[in-house]
Amino acid sequence: MTTNKNTMSKTTLGGQFTFPGTSSTVQRIGYGAMQLAGPGVFGPPKDHAAALAVLREAIASGVNHIDTSDFYGPHVTNQLIHEALHPYPDDLVIATKVSARRGKDGSWIPAFSREELTQAVHDNLRNLGLDVLEIVNLRSMFGIHGPAEGSIEAQLTVLAGLQQQGLIRHIGLSNVTPKQIEEGRRIAPIVCVQNFYNIAHRNDDGLIDSLAAQGVAYVPFFPLGGFTPLQSSILSDVANRLQVTPMQVAQAWLLHRSPNILLIPGTSSAAHLRENLAAGELTLLLQTLAELDGIASATTTVKH
Ligand SMILES: NC(=O)c1ccc[n+]([C@@H]2O[C@H](COP(=O)([O-])OP(=O)(O)OC[C@H]3O[C@@H](n4cnc5c(N)ncnc54)[C@H](OP(=O)(O)O)[C@@H]3O)[C@@H](O)[C@H]2O)c1
Repeated sequence: MTTNKNTMSKTTLGGQFTFPGTSSTVQRIGYGAMQLAGPGVFGPPKDHAAALAVLREAIASGVNHIDTSDFYGPHVTNQLIHEALHPYPDDLVIATKVSARRGKDGSWIPAFSREELTQAVHDNLRNLGLDVLEIVNLRSMFGIHGPAEGSIEAQLTVLAGLQQQGLIRHIGLSNVTPKQIEEGRRIAPIVCVQNFYNIAHRNDDGLIDSLAAQGVAYVPFFPLGGFTPLQSSILSDVANRLQVTPMQVAQAWLLHRSPNILLIPGTSSAAHLRENLAAGELTLLLQTLAELDGIASATTTVKH
C-alpha cells in the first residue's frame, strides 16, 4: 500500500463529492497546505523547492481540493500554491479560511471585524492570484482549541455581502457548533463544515451524520492528529495486519465513516503525500471498523 514514485498510479482518491447546491465536484482525498509554511505555521518553508514539488505532485496525482489560508505563514502557503500551480486547472477547488491574523511573534490573533474579514478576502485573492475564491470558510474564534457558542451572524453577513459582490463563490464554516451552523444557514448557504475530528477525537459524530443527511461536506482538520500525530496500539495492530501504515488506516477509516467526509491531510513530504493518496484504495471490513471504534472509546465516549 505504501507507494513510491516509480510505482505510483492515479488512485480513485476516495471517490468524488459534490458540494451541495453547486457544480463543484472534488475527489474525497484532497490536500491541506498548512504544513508547507515554516515551523509553527510561521515564515517560509525549510525547503522551498520541495514545497512546490509536493503541491505539483498532488495535482498530478489527481488531487483537486486544496485547503489553505492566508494566515498560514502568513501569506506563505497561498504564495507557494500560486507559484506552483497557477494558472490553475479548471477543476481545482481551493478552499481558504478567514478570521485570524498573525502577530510578529507568530501568535494567532482573532480578526473578524468587517474591515479585517474584507481585507482577508482581498489578501487571499491577491496571494492566490484569483478573481473569485471558490470556498471561504469563516473560522469561528470563540473557541481556539474547539468550538464554543457565540453568534457568528455579524461576521457571516460580511462574507455573504462579499459573496454577493462576486468575490466568494461558496461559504463554509469552521470550528463551529451545530447551533452556529443553524444560525449560519439563515444567512447564507453553507457547503462545508471544517472541525477537529479524527479516529481518536470523535466529538462531532452526531454532527457528521446530520450534515451527511443534508449533503453538506464535513472536512475534518487534524485528520492525522495534527501537532500531536495519532498513536494507538489498535491502529498499529490493524495497520500491521493489513500491511499498510497507521496513518493510512486512520484516513481509510475517515473515508468509511461517512460519504460526506473529505480529507485534507497536511504534509510537507512527498513520500507522506503518496502514502496519504494511496489510503483511498484501502477497504476496511465491518469487523475492522468495529475494532477501530475502540480507539475513541478508550479515550472518550463515542457518540453514534
Ligand atoms: N480550520 C482550522 O481551524 C484548521 C486547523 C488546523 C488545520 N487545518 C487544515 O487542516 C489540514 C490538515 O491538518 P494538519 O496538517 O494540521 O494536521 P494532520 O493532517 O492531522 O497532520 C499533519 C501532520 O502529520 C504528518 N503526516 C502527514 N502525513 C503523514 C503520513 N502519511 N505519515 C506520517 N506522518 C504524516 C505531517 O508531517 P510531515 O509534514 O512530515 O508529513 C504533520 O506533522 C491543514 O493542512 C489545514 O489546511 C484547519
